[in-house]
Amino acid sequence: MKRNTIQHLSVLSALLLTSALAGGADAQNAAQASTAQASASQIPATNINKPESTSGQPTAQSTGTNSPLPYNQATRLPSAGTENLKASVAALQNTLTELQALQLQTKQAHWNVSGTLWYSLHELLQDHYEQISKDADMVAERQLAVGASSDGRAITIVATSRLPEIQAGFIDDSQVIQFFTYQYETVGQRIHQRINDVEKVDPSTSNLLQEVETNIEKFQWQMRAFLQNTPKDPNSGFDINNAKPVPLRGK
Ligand SMILES: [Fe+2]
Repeated sequence: MKRNTIQHLSVLSALLLTSALAGGADAQNAAQASTAQASASQIPATNINKPESTSGQPTAQSTGTNSPLPYNQATRLPSAGTENLKASVAALQNTLTELQALQLQTKQAHWNVSGTLWYSLHELLQDHYEQISKDADMVAERQLAVGASSDGRAITIVATSRLPEIQAGFIDDSQVIQFFTYQYETVGQRIHQRINDVEKVDPSTSNLLQEVETNIEKFQWQMRAFLQNTPKDPNSGFDINNAKPVPLRGK
């Protein structure tokens, strides 16, 4: 073959190769674009939650943004992007807020409890604080897993927990028992309602909330037990409440 012909053939092959590569890249870009478009349309909008009222309680604002990355199984539930998942997010956020309020209150009482039972309550409240902190973390991270951000700000706890505040200063042992018996009863009932709200649409969240409710009910019993009637002693709290029985709901 002549030298010129070889040169022509080389140039031609180089052109063909470049063109094929360019075509391939174009095709790949087009495929990627269409995949991205398909993914974008599948991304649930549940992580852009407006503060809406569910179960009569305002939800805190979530501030996530749409992500180009794939979502997980929880966000692919049939309910993703619908009112059902919003109910799930509201259940988690409201539970988180209440647990955070209880974190602060158990610590406040742990430090300031006074009276005959101070040591028992001081120790018990520390145990409650530690478990509540773990549960709050689980609930917050479940909210991330279902595609929403979690709001753990102090302002949100104050504005949305709808729980009475614990008194300032030294607090009598009988008042600590009264206060937490009511708090745990209230929070337990609210979580129980939320378990029912999300049971069908988001069973994993429902299961998590069941664990949290179990712990709250255990804490409620542990406070109530100080005043549990027995055949031998009515345990009215007479001895820890300035010679008056400790008034408890239903007692
Ligand atoms: Fe301590």
